[in-house]
Amino acid sequence: MKVQKAVIPVAGLGTRFLPATKVIPKEMLTIVDRPTIQYIVEEVVASGIKEVVLVTASGKSAIEDHFDYSFELETFLAQKGKLELLAEVRHISRLIDVVSVRQKEPLGLGHAVGVTEQVVKDEPFVVCLGDDLVVSEIPCVYQMLQVFEKYHESVVAVQRVPEDQVDRYGIVEGEEVEPGVFRIDRIVEKPAPGSVRSNLAVIGRYILRPEIYDCLSRTLPGVGGEIQLTDALDMLRNERGLYAYAFDGVRFDAGDKFGYLRATIHFGLEHPDLGGRFRQYLKEIADEL
Ligand code: G1P
Repeated sequence: MKVQKAVIPVAGLGTRFLPATKVIPKEMLTIVDRPTIQYIVEEVVASGIKEVVLVTASGKSAIEDHFDYSFELETFLAQKGKLELLAEVRHISRLIDVVSVRQKEPLGLGHAVGVTEQVVKDEPFVVCLGDDLVVSEIPCVYQMLQVFEKYHESVVAVQRVPEDQVDRYGIVEGEEVEPGVFRIDRIVEKPAPGSVRSNLAVIGRYILRPEIYDCLSRTLPGVGGEIQLTDALDMLRNERGLYAYAFDGVRFDAGDKFGYLRATIHFGLEHPDLGGRFRQYLKEIADEL
């Protein structure tokens, strides 16, 4: 079964980033010169996937517009001879085919994924969470697709976190079946520190078999009163199997103010035009700190 679609839930209110997100969707906050969602979409495209299903809510139309063709802007840039900018804008509008599905009530991540069933139907698919940016030589989603193709079961991306932070994540316990790949025995959402035998935390990348939809339909509200994807994954694990993959790469939590600053510095230093000047500037001010 070939993986052709990526679901990106973008309906969240972005409360961790207020007041910036009062009007602007958090996915449209800029890191250097592009919105965070574009980094995610570029990872998906670099992994060979062109169909993106956005799970949206009211106030989020800027995200769809960002990936759409803008006749007015492209005509303006062409007339002014601003060809580099025109190429950049065209590149974005040609990246992906977008389908949007509305999540009518904020009932949790599991619910958001569940509302895509009518679009995805019976194919395996990727889920990418917009807050998690992963920088890696080989795109994280591509790495995970290799694991999925080998084991034919759903895969979640994991990384180790400090023990006192396990209550911020979905945590997996399991046996390492090959370097970096774990067969999961248990997955639990935001466990109390000390209540789990592992510090392997799920970060926002999943390859899911379509059977997850049936599990989601049977999932009751969990942590925070929300329908948790993690709870449905534990059901899927029990009924079929579930793997975790410790990906190669660095992850930034761009939905958190400090994580966002870290990501901005990373991408600023990497930027082809600005990187050199920015590095010099950081060196200068580092002495004054
Ligand atoms: C969600 C998931 C959690 C996962 C995390 C990764 O939590 O529910 O299992 O570890 O994303 O970022 P949230 O950050 O939405 O609270």
